[in-house]
Amino acid sequence: MRILFIGDIFGRPGRELARRAIGALRKHRGVEFVVANVENAAGGFGVTRELAESLLDDGVDVMTSGNHIWDRKEAIDYVQLEPRLLRPANFPAGVPGRGTCVARSAGEPVAVINVMGRVFMTPFDDPFAVVNRELTALAGEARIVLVDFHAEATSEKLAMGWYLDDRVTAVVGTHTHVQTADARVLPGGTAYITDVGMTGPHDSIIGVETGAALGRFLTGLPTRFEAATANPRFNGVVIDADPATGRARAIERLDLTGRDLDAIVAGAPAAGS
Ligand SMILES: [Fe+2]
Repeated sequence: MRILFIGDIFGRPGRELARRAIGALRKHRGVEFVVANVENAAGGFGVTRELAESLLDDGVDVMTSGNHIWDRKEAIDYVQLEPRLLRPANFPAGVPGRGTCVARSAGEPVAVINVMGRVFMTPFDDPFAVVNRELTALAGEARIVLVDFHAEATSEKLAMGWYLDDRVTAVVGTHTHVQTADARVLPGGTAYITDVGMTGPHDSIIGVETGAALGRFLTGLPTRFEAATANPRFNGVVIDADPATGRARAIERLDLTGRDLDAIVAGAPAAGS
């Protein structure tokens, strides 16, 4: 089973590129299941019901998030209606929504767990203990298990990768918006990357228009952050997983422009041919 995980979709440029990429990669690269981190889909801050529904229509199977999930207040109600939109599982008890879901791809159950780091972030519950709790609760319901670890620190993300090696299909990092070059399959069969990167405007400071973000660093004065638009790039990984064992066979890193996607559509042989 080929699984596409899309790095943080940022604003309209990210949404448009994600839609094109899902179509191209489903058709020409044999992708059968799509997970996307959507916490920056609405102008860089949060996600609305309308945008989430259009991403589902575009072919996203499960949406993950992180620290920005409540930036749009309507998400508080929406996560209670839509089980395919996850918020971190280690948010405090009683917070609306859920951090795990089980979806299906051609009849095969696929579990997705979303957790958030504590280093340089709001320190919610222990993500390692919470992942254990979520895996126990799954009780073998799915052999394919994907973990989105939304975290800042490389060390914490690597620790989660090694902690879950041989227990889940993939641990992919999100949140930093900068793709790392360390995609690999760990010895126990867990695909890993420290950060998938950002599907959005790359002439920016992690998605934000550079002038405003730079101004805050230079002066410390409050500035209004606007989503950038220039140089959109698609960042993601494709994980090739064995449904019989739940182990990853390979993980491929993608960093593509719109022109790259056009080339895939125009020239690439169809998957399996
Ligand atoms: Fe984040």
